Formats: sequence, structure tokens, C-alpha cells
Amino acid sequence: MATSLVTLQQYKAEGRKFSSLTAYDASFARLISQAGVDTLLVGDSLGNVIQGKTSTVPVTLEQMVYHTECVARGNQGSLLLSDIPFMEAATLDRTLNAAASLMRAGANVVKIEGSAWLTDTVHTLNRNGVPCCVHMGLTPQSVNAFGGYRVQGRENAAAQQLLNDAIALDQAGVALLLLECVPAELGKQVAQAVKAPVISCGAGPDCDGQVMVTYDMLGLTGGKPPKFVKNFMDATQGSVTDAVSAYHQAVVDGSFPAPEHCY
Ligand code: KIV
Repeated sequence: MATSLVTLQQYKAEGRKFSSLTAYDASFARLISQAGVDTLLVGDSLGNVIQGKTSTVPVTLEQMVYHTECVARGNQGSLLLSDIPFMEAATLDRTLNAAASLMRAGANVVKIEGSAWLTDTVHTLNRNGVPCCVHMGLTPQSVNAFGGYRVQGRENAAAQQLLNDAIALDQAGVALLLLECVPAELGKQVAQAVKAPVISCGAGPDCDGQVMVTYDMLGLTGGKPPKFVKNFMDATQGSVTDAVSAYHQAVVDGSFPAPEHCY
């Protein structure tokens, strides 16, 4: 049976963890969804891992729509999230236009980088039948404003602000939250404080789900990976299917992320 938002809400209520991986094309979408991974993310990380750029900033809406269509064709029942790219959520009109394009391309949920300033956007998207995931913490589209890829929410005031923002978005009816690169303790506090399922990308084991860039977990990306990345290919004699299944299993049984993957 296809995974829906209701499935993820049930998992949260039952304490069952869910898995998510990025996909950018039909073949990976088929393989990942057939391996039982609960959600597929057409991430604007495609700017890095597909296009070879140094950030997600250059990724366009047209490119996101193209890759969302490709992934939707291969998807075998995972919930499909797709990123609204850089500057396409700058105004409400632009956001609605981008969301409509991604939903028509096959997304089930749109993901937007931001925080509590998106509460009106969440309301308007909900009124129009578009569930929304807000990506908080380290938001890669703002890398130039951050001055690099840095752990967020380390100081008490910043952690409290992120927690308050997450609660405001939850009250506005956000469908999902994604926390990137924050201390595990903050990930736990947010997941406990909100009704919406919370996905961790380097936010610790106590969030409701985990996501990784597929190319990172297959060990295909060059350079030193972030602390929260685990290479699942190493233990599988070169089988991508086995690596994806091992990742899903490790998320569901709680063995990933381990303390060495957390801040
Ligand atoms: O674009 C992406 O792949 C993402 C994940 C890193 C969470 O947003």
C-alpha cells in the first residue's frame, strides 16, 4: 500500500521510525521505493550531486519539475516530497506557482526552506490542498548568508528560537518538519513538542524519520562527508539494492543514526 501522510502520522503515534532517501531519476526511484523506503525526496541537492555545482542556489524550478516527473514515473508507492528551489518561496504568489508546478509533476508534499515566517504560506498551501514540509536548521539555500555549512541551534537562544518556530509552524498545520544539522537534543525536543512527524538530516535518533542524500549513503560523493552521513555500501559487496535495504532497516530498528553521526 502506498505511504501517505496518514501513514507517517500513525508511525509517529506508534513510535515506529520511517526512512527517506533522495531520488532524482526513475531508476533510483523504483529501486529505493521497492526496497521499502517510506518517502522519496527530490532534493535540490541535485545541484550538487547531479549537476556538480558547489551549492543548491543555482537550481531552477524548471529543473525541479523535470526531476520530479522522472521520479514520479519510477516511484512504487513511497510518499514523494519535492523541493521548492532558491528564491521560489520569496513571495506567496511565487510559492503557489512553484507548488502547483511540483504537484502537477507528481509531488505529494512540497518542501520549503525557512522557519516561522512561513506560517501564512503553510495556511494558504493547506487551503489549496498542498501539504508542506518546512526544512529548518541548516538550510543549504542560505549557505551564503550562513557563511558556510555550520551546525545550527547550538546556543541556548538559537535552540529556543528554533523550537518556538517549529511549534508555530505545527500550529499553522505544517505536514512535516525537516531538521538539518542541529544537536540531537534539540531534534528530540522538537519531535516531542510537535504533532507533525519530524525528519532528521543530522538531527539525531529521536526524530520520527531520517533522510540522507542517496549518493552520500552509497559513498559516491567525493570529499569528506558530513558527520551525519553513513556509507551503507561498504558492507554490501557492491549491491545498491542491499545498501538501500540496509539503510531502511537501520532507520526502522533505530541503529542509525549512532552517536558518532550526531551533534
Ligand atoms: O536537497 C536535499 O537533498 C535535502 C536533504 C539534504 C534533506 O534537502
